[in-house]
Amino acid sequence: MNDFRKIRLILALAFVSSRAQPAEDVRFKPANPPAMQPLTNHDSPAYRSARLFLHGVNLGNYLEAPPGQNWGVTVAAGEFAAMRREGFDHVRVPVGWHHYAGPAPDFKLSPAIFARADFVVTNALDQHLAVMINIHHFDELDRDPAGTTEEFLKIWRQVAVHYQAFPNPLAFELDNEPHNQATTALMNPIYARAIAEIRQTNPRRTIFVEPGHWGNMDELKNLVLPPDDNVIVSVHCYEPFYFTHQGATWAGPDVKPTGIVFPGPPAQPFVPDARLNLKPWVLDWIKKYNTLPADENPNGPLAFTGKLKSARAWSDYYGRPVHLGEFGAYTKADPASRANYYSAVRRACENNSIGWCIWDWSAGFRYWDPVANRALPGMHAALFGKTK
Ligand code: BGC
Repeated sequence: MNDFRKIRLILALAFVSSRAQPAEDVRFKPANPPAMQPLTNHDSPAYRSARLFLHGVNLGNYLEAPPGQNWGVTVAAGEFAAMRREGFDHVRVPVGWHHYAGPAPDFKLSPAIFARADFVVTNALDQHLAVMINIHHFDELDRDPAGTTEEFLKIWRQVAVHYQAFPNPLAFELDNEPHNQATTALMNPIYARAIAEIRQTNPRRTIFVEPGHWGNMDELKNLVLPPDDNVIVSVHCYEPFYFTHQGATWAGPDVKPTGIVFPGPPAQPFVPDARLNLKPWVLDWIKKYNTLPADENPNGPLAFTGKLKSARAWSDYYGRPVHLGEFGAYTKADPASRANYYSAVRRACENNSIGWCIWDWSAGFRYWDPVANRALPGMHAALFGKTK
């Protein structure tokens, strides 16, 4: 090799290695010897399946409602075609199976819930949407995980048998947002048993699992999964919470102030109603929201970009794909702010190669206006417009 070629080779190698080394070291470093074995194959069935679950929508407030209750959502068969046309590639379907389970020891599921779930699953698959069905709002499990494990496993046994012949774009998610007593540490062995149960009849089904504390990304470090190569880890993120949940009556007194725009700071300082008696930490957040520049503002991408980057680092270390199964903003926020927020989160996900799934299709955090039969203003561009 002549000197000129040698210099070119050295320069090329230097260029490649400078690109391979990120300026900021975001590699995941376990604090303790890792309890979970990293998987080295990054082209495993889980990674291949993750490519089907990139841009999704939650069919919220529908099949998770207990029998006899209507949470305001009805779904027509044609809406699955609309989801596909909009650009979604998957639908996450929360299901309240436990509301339809008979007594111990069999916990037999009623045909009624299978009929309703089948309607969703078959229509979605017909439209080439991948589908994820889960167990949603299983509150007894959050109160008493050990006492509910048998029911949890029996539900999954029946669901797995029912869907065993369905094609692979149907995936199972073991439990939505474990919290309270259902810590990540307590759920680890329960998940392992549920995965083993499902594998009896569905050896190739993709299974999603969520860490504790409501699917919190900060809990990933505590997750210990069996060495199954078709498991995807799903996390949820509603940060900045005072923006996304403003006016949400179920989310407590801290989110009472409405009129918070995204991203901060607002053009005019936001002055909350003094009668709300807000807690000092909320007032402090509002002060920062009013005064800090965009790149330091707590009501901006800062609230989630670092978390998503760390989730990606965890994923790379352990060889487990990560998916953002829920994010969204309640319709009490103004439409432009909602669109800005959905756009910012999906861009942050895409920058980290993380598939996303918005909350929700046509309920309180909706994308779709079922009366006008079109997306709410700004929402399509927010999710499917060109990445800036
Ligand atoms: C719950 C919904 C709620 C949403 C945002 C979901 O996990 O199932 O009921 O609207 O989170 O709070």
